[in-house]
Order: sequence, then C-alpha cells, then structure tokens
Amino acid sequence: MSSIQEKHSAQYYIDLENSYGAHNYHPLPVVLERGEGVYVWDVEGKKYYDFLSAYSAVNQGHSHPKIVSAMTTQAQALSLTSRAFYNNKLGEFEKKITRIFGFDKVLPMNSGAEAVETAIKIARKWGYEVKGIRNHEAKIIICENNFHGRTTTIVSFSNDPDARDHYGPFTPGFIRIAYNDVQALKEILENPEDIAAFLVEPIQGEAGVFVPDEGYLHEAAELCRSKNVLFIADEVQTGIARTGKMLACDHEQVKPDILILGKALSGGMYPVSAVLANDPVMHVIKPGQHGSTFGGNPLACAVSTAALDVIIDEKLAENAEKMGKRFRAGIEKTIGKTNLISKVRGKGLLNAILINDTPESSTAWDLCLKLRDNGLLAKPTHGNIIRMAPPLVITEKQIDECLAIIEKTILEFSK
Ligand SMILES: Cc1ncc(COP(=O)(O)O)c(C=O)c1O
Repeated sequence: MSSIQEKHSAQYYIDLENSYGAHNYHPLPVVLERGEGVYVWDVEGKKYYDFLSAYSAVNQGHSHPKIVSAMTTQAQALSLTSRAFYNNKLGEFEKKITRIFGFDKVLPMNSGAEAVETAIKIARKWGYEVKGIRNHEAKIIICENNFHGRTTTIVSFSNDPDARDHYGPFTPGFIRIAYNDVQALKEILENPEDIAAFLVEPIQGEAGVFVPDEGYLHEAAELCRSKNVLFIADEVQTGIARTGKMLACDHEQVKPDILILGKALSGGMYPVSAVLANDPVMHVIKPGQHGSTFGGNPLACAVSTAALDVIIDEKLAENAEKMGKRFRAGIEKTIGKTNLISKVRGKGLLNAILINDTPESSTAWDLCLKLRDNGLLAKPTHGNIIRMAPPLVITEKQIDECLAIIEKTILEFSK
C-alpha cells in the first residue's frame, strides 16, 4: 500500500460531507487539514488566521506541543477505564482543577451540553434534598436568547426556533426572563420557594457576544444567595481565559454556586467538560446517580491537566485582556472609515462586530467569504454579527496584521 496520501481538491471533501453527512451545519466553504498556534491551513496549502478557535475551544492555539505531548504519551499508556475502576490520572486532575477554580469538588463529563445537563440535575436534586422543594416542582430560571447546548432538555428552554422547533414535547420546569435585567430576576425571586437555580451565561456568546451591564452578574448572584437559589454560571464559552480573566465571572468577583466548563478545558484536543461546586451542593450526587463512560477518563485528564497548565504558564488570560483591548481599539478606527460596521463589542478576545444591515441579509456571510479570501476565518452568528475570537496565544504583531486584513476587507467590500 502506498504511504503517500492521495491529494484531493477542496470540492471533493465538501461533496463528500454533503453526500454522506447530515446537513446540520452550514460551514464556510474552506477545507482545513492542519493547524498550528493561531494559524490553520487548507487542503490547497493556503494559510489563514483562525478567528473562531472552534467556538473558543482552541484558546491555547492549534496543536499546542505540550498538549499534544500529554495526549500522545497518555494514549500509549491508558486511554479509558470507565469509572468502574480508579485510574492514576483522574485524582490529580480533580485536585488541580478544584484548586485553580476554588471549589471543593468537580464532576467531569465530555461535551458542554452534558455538563449543563449535569448542572441542571445537581441543582434539581439539591432543590429537593437540601432546600426542601416539593417533589417534581423544582424550577430553574434561564434567560432569553440563551445558548447552553443541544440536548432535548436544553432546547426545551431555548427561544431560538431553529434550535427548538419540532423537538417537543419539551422538558418542563424552566422560567425564562430577560437577560441583563436584574429587576426581572428580582420579581421572579419574590416567590423563591420552588426555585432551585438561576442558570446564566456571563456573556451570551452564541447570541452575538452580548455583554451584560457591569454589575449585572454581581447583583444577580447576590439576589440568588439572599433567596437560597443556586447561581449557575455556564462558562463553557467564556471560561478558561477567553475574556481576559480565568472566568468571565472574575470580572465582577462573582463566585458561582455551580460552575460549568468545557471547550478550552482540553485546548480543543478532546471533548472534556466539568461541573464544579462545593460539598453541600455536590454531595447530593451519590454513586450510581449520574455518570458517563468517558467522563474523567485518563486521556481526558492528562490532556486537560496540560491544557490548564498552558493557560497559566503562558499567562493567556493576561494576553487575552491586552490583545482584546488592542483589537477593539483597532476596529473602532475602522468603524470611523466605513458605514458597513456599526459596533465592536466584547471582553478579552471574545468579540463581535455588528454589521450595518438587516439580520436576514447575507452581508455578514459575504464579508466572511471575503475575509477568508484575504486569509482570515470568521463566522457569522445570528445574521448580522460576526464573532471574532482568535486563539489566546496571538501576539501584538499578529493582531495588527489581522486588523489590517479586516480593515482592507471591509473597505474593499463597502466600495
Ligand atoms: C455557553 C455554552 N454552553 C454550552 C455549550 C454546548 O457545548 P457543546 O457544543 O460542547 O455541547 C456551548 C457551545 O457553544 C456554549 O457556548
């Protein structure tokens, strides 16, 4: 057999996916085959800046050598035991992650949605067994325009028709309130007896990088505490240094009762998610009451341990804060030269630019195609918004180069 891989065109791979894969995504037409740091390369050898970072999973940069090394070493030793037995990686990972984030306990899972489901189960169980809510009456408050994943229960409390329509019957027990509205939370919490938790994204990523007013998270967390309602932060997208601090909640010195992490917890190398809480909450889960074959496997733990070390050793939160400010200042200058974009918003390196057009228009998509042609990959989110989220290892020189690409593309496009 020949060891030389046959070369195919981009179209070949696109046609394969179209023919044999479910059409549950609408990818930008580019076929990637390699990544390193802030760069990815397509099958024709063209190099791009990655400004999506797999929805903020690749905070540490593509193929980080320390994470690759941890992964390959561990894969050769032991990958999966299930939790039927102990393994020699899980405990050390648990110690590290709980120390870093300041919680008594962690429950490891795989995808972000599974971690959200886990948090919901823990909150309900805590509601019945600790708070004393009547059986089957526990409610969880969630926000309008939330995105917490794709399971049946999670889409039950989504208000995005694409995510939700025709997936019913839906899981009951969720109360929707406006995001960034302390008063709405206050009103619901006037009768907190049956309310177990408030589940919130510190910045709404999928909704278009919607940053709440300063003080919102702090006030919301205090309100929950005063009413014996758990404050659950879904930091699957905002966590692990993305917004310029280890957690987006850290910007307001908020300590959630339950913290949900995923994506960059593994540097994008492997699906790893986690739920963290202190003992009075986590102790409601007893053996046999929740689990996952892959959750906490040695490979995941080795990868995650290395991924967390990279974030801390390379001071990626500090870099995200600095580069984010530089990025937004650069885009503000471009906004002064065009009518095509109206605003840049975000924190750290989780940012979005708002296109001056209707949500139904194809302008954001068309602009992303031009950005691709000019060597930068980004994707629209919700119509006329483009998320800009490069790996956190990006340097000042690279940010400036990206700003130049973005400005050139926008000015060409506005002509
Ligand atoms: C805030 C938030 N929660 C949960 C999820 C779901 O994560 P996953 O796609 O790994 O299930 C996402 C994914 O984008 C997210 O942004």
